[in-house]
Amino acid sequence: MNKSQQSNTRIDWVGSSCRLLGAISDEFKTTQPFAGLTIGTGIHLEPKTVALLLTLRAGGARIVATGNLNSTQVETVGFLRESGIEVFAETTMDSNVHGQSLGRILDEKPDILLDNGGDLFARYLDNPYQGLIGGTEETTSGRIRLEPLRDKLSMPILVINDSPIKQFAENKHAVGQSIFESYMRLTNRATNGKRVTVFGYGACGQGVAACFRAAYSTVSVVDTNPVTTLAAHFDGYATPLRRDAIKSADVIVTETGATNIITADDMPDLKDGVILMNGGHFPTEIDVASIKSSDMVKKCVTYPEEGIESLHLSNEHTVHILGAGHMVNLSGPRPLGNSIESMDIGFALQARCLERVAQTRDLSQGTQDCVVPVPTDIDARVAEDYLALNR
Ligand SMILES: NC(=O)c1ccc[n+]([C@@H]2O[C@H](COP(=O)([O-])OP(=O)(O)OC[C@H]3O[C@@H](n4cnc5c(N)ncnc54)[C@H](O)[C@@H]3O)[C@@H](O)[C@H]2O)c1
Repeated sequence: MNKSQQSNTRIDWVGSSCRLLGAISDEFKTTQPFAGLTIGTGIHLEPKTVALLLTLRAGGARIVATGNLNSTQVETVGFLRESGIEVFAETTMDSNVHGQSLGRILDEKPDILLDNGGDLFARYLDNPYQGLIGGTEETTSGRIRLEPLRDKLSMPILVINDSPIKQFAENKHAVGQSIFESYMRLTNRATNGKRVTVFGYGACGQGVAACFRAAYSTVSVVDTNPVTTLAAHFDGYATPLRRDAIKSADVIVTETGATNIITADDMPDLKDGVILMNGGHFPTEIDVASIKSSDMVKKCVTYPEEGIESLHLSNEHTVHILGAGHMVNLSGPRPLGNSIESMDIGFALQARCLERVAQTRDLSQGTQDCVVPVPTDIDARVAEDYLALNR
């Protein structure tokens, strides 16, 4: 039998897996909510974002896109440019270089902004221009940054992370799965019988704890909030005191959003062979710098391709750090991040919120719609659409 064959890339795989965005894209081709509008975006340039940007373009938008610090993927930039999307982005850890890319986006005077961390809206206020309708902000950190600027911005800005759907679909379930997947991917070690301590029992920590428990680990939880700790107790986890948890853990995962959860002061208590990994946004939850420069470290062995550093200590214990303390699900070999489905849902919320902002362009807007959660009717619609696709 002579079957035709085709060889596709990961971008194609991700695109074909984003079923919600695919359906919205088909609808937008007819409804054209962004006809005549330019959308400026500042969000990670990686394959899942391609599906979102192509959906917005199907709705008639001209797109000018940049990424975020240290996450721009070269193949994604090439693909977007070939698809006719204007990209101003470099793969860089230098915030000045990245700042120039953000400036290039605002030079195009977009009608709508899709922001991630508040960079674009905050810069817009430095040099405002006529015609900005509003937009979206992806993260909690962006919401915290933009909230005090409400009076100055005074335009509709919808915060995606404040949707309950985002909280459970991404933060709880997808982060839990991808942190667990990262442990397996980087270490190739078993989870069975391991004592895993999760610091932080918010949405992300709940997912991490559940995934390790489901993989036959003995999981304990440490959280500074006694009510949250009680919730972990009722969920069946051990809730030892911090020091006891550290002493007994084979694996420690930080998921708090706070800093200095594990520091050099904890080193005498760390069990021999312990694996330290962080899932929180900032690489400051495990104080890797103070740990590595501690007098207790005799030798540091790195496995650069694997994203593992092993510290041999003066007490003959060895401590392994994954991903240098950065978000482990974006570290190490072939980092994939959160599941496509969770991002498909989050980006469907993005597409619907941007459509809503475009629809309100002729209404006079004030601070009442500025930096607010996703409207509940959009949450309901995205939930119904996802369920319908999965029945
Ligand atoms: N890796 C990813 O893909 C990904 C995705 C989404 C969010 N995040 C990040 O994960 C982190 C946690 O997010 P969340 O939504 O679960 O936050 P959350 O605010 O819901 O939960 C954080 C929990 O940590 C606890 N905590 C704070 N300080 C602590 C300390 N010193 N010791 C122990 N517990 C402490 C808090 O009481 C709270 O219960 C954030 O940094 C967030 O940005 C990562």
